[in-house]
Parts: sequence; C-alpha cells; structure tokens
Amino acid sequence: MHLLSIESLSDDHIAAILSEAQRWFDFNRSARRNDHRLDGLTILNAFFENSTRTLLSFEIAANRLGAQVVTMQVEMSSIKKGETLEDTARTLNAMRPDAVVIRHGRAGAPADVAALVDCAVINAGDGTGEHPTQALLDAATLQRHFGRIKGLTVAICGDIRHSRVARSNARLLERLGADVRLAGPPSLMPDGATAMTVDEAVSGADAVMMLRVQRERLEDELGDAPGEFLDRYGLTRERFALAGPGAMVMHPGPINRGVEIDGALADDSERSLILTQVEMGVAVRMACLDLLTAGRRGETGSA
Ligand code: NCD
Repeated sequence: MHLLSIESLSDDHIAAILSEAQRWFDFNRSARRNDHRLDGLTILNAFFENSTRTLLSFEIAANRLGAQVVTMQVEMSSIKKGETLEDTARTLNAMRPDAVVIRHGRAGAPADVAALVDCAVINAGDGTGEHPTQALLDAATLQRHFGRIKGLTVAICGDIRHSRVARSNARLLERLGADVRLAGPPSLMPDGATAMTVDEAVSGADAVMMLRVQRERLEDELGDAPGEFLDRYGLTRERFALAGPGAMVMHPGPINRGVEIDGALADDSERSLILTQVEMGVAVRMACLDLLTAGRRGETGSA
C-alpha cells in the first residue's frame, strides 16, 4: 500500500488514521514515548525540496515507533552528478527499505517512484500536486479542537494555485463533510476556479487556513509590495473578526509574517492552531507509518 494522494485512501483508512492519530497525540505527551512496533524496519526519507516540519516529523514519528530512519542527503547525493530520479529509486530499493517518504518538486514523482520499488511510498509533497499527510494532520487538528469535521466551514485562503496543501485539504475535508471555501488573489487561483473574495470566504467560517505565497513557484505574477498583500488578501485582525464565533486560525507553515498573515494573530494561542498542527504532524505520521507497514509486519492491514 502507498499513500500518494487523498484519493488513494479508502474511507476506512482515513477513519483509522484520524482516530489513531488522536491516540498517538496523547502518547507523545506522555513521559515515555517509545513504541516498538516498527523494530527492525528501515524508513528512508528522500526530500528533494526544503522542509522543516514534514521531514522532522517523519523522522521523529519513525523513531518513536522503533524504526531505523535514514534521511538521504540530497545535496550530497549522486542526484547532483546527474543521476535520474528513476535510477535513484532503483538504488534506494536495492537497499531494501520498508518505506520511502518522498518530497519532490514535480507533481507525480512519488507515483513514479512507487512504480519502481517494492516498499510503501509516502508522498510528502509533490510540486503543486498533493500533500496528503498535511491534509490528514489538518483534519486531525480540526477534529481535536472542534470535536467534529462534518458541518464545519473551513476557508482556505492565499496562494491556492501553487498549493498542494489546498488541493489535498479540499479533497479530504469535503469528503469528511466540511464546507470548504477557497479564496485568494485572482492570479493565485487555479484556472477556472470560482472567484470568492477573502472577506466572503472568511465570513462566518469556523477555521481559516492561510497559505504561504510560494514565491519559488511564481514567475512575477505578484508585483504587490508585502504590506499591500496583507491588506488586500491576508488575514488581519479586522478580517478575522468576520469569522464565526470561536473561529480558529490555521497555517501549514512556513509563515510569511506580515504577508499572508498578521504575525501577532499567528502567535495568539487563544486563536491559533498552528503549533497544534505541528504537534499533530508527528502523531499523524506515526499513524500513517504504522498503517503502511502493517502488512510487512505480518499484521492485519492492507499494506
Ligand atoms: C507546505 C508544503 O511544503 O507544501 N509546508 C508544509 O509541508 N508544512 C506549505 C508551503 O510550503 O507553503
């Protein structure tokens, strides 16, 4: 079994990951946080794009489950000598990992790797494609805070066009019964998307998920000065006041303070779930690694 997209998960898998994640979240707050179910297994991280949260949380998750974790130093690897992704995948596979966690700048790269290896492949973000474990951790965070996902209104705002987070979240949250609204500057919306202003999307929402302006994927479509972006499209205190009572702020990180979100609002622990998302990231990745390696460990599961 691979975890390449939200579509690749059955409803049962999603329910299992979300409920197991709540258990791992509590486990991770306990004094002794070592479990041994992945003893003797090797998890290989191959990140071809930068990462802080996703990479470290996969490393910590695998460690807490007792696995041996190896993180490929892409900058030091033969990729820099021109080795192809396909040849790299065959090489990694010959070392017999039990799971490969891959982040890559090209949408579809994790699926290409999955076709060449004998182990589970987890997509940790592929270009502007998907980021399924981020959507799972966001759903688990909503579930923990609100006690439900069904019936929640979630506004996802900012650079939707380049966001694999928005794509995976919209697919997952809609499947779980949330009302998802997407909004952002017209030049940062996907082609053909219905235009909703950020004010309209935020109005009455239970959660407002802001997205980073992905300057590395932009040519120069956004001439606006940073302060101007915040005023026109970002989450200021004034704009957030339009949201529903008890509304919470989310962001997958990294944050561009003062661009898509007011820094003080991001730091407001009464209103912001941003660090709970990070904490939940470890828990969700433990649940995913457990599920995806269950078959190899001879346990029930469909891996
Ligand atoms: C996101 C990503 O890399 O897709 N970050 C993350 O994984 N938490 C979002 C981003 O880069 O803006």
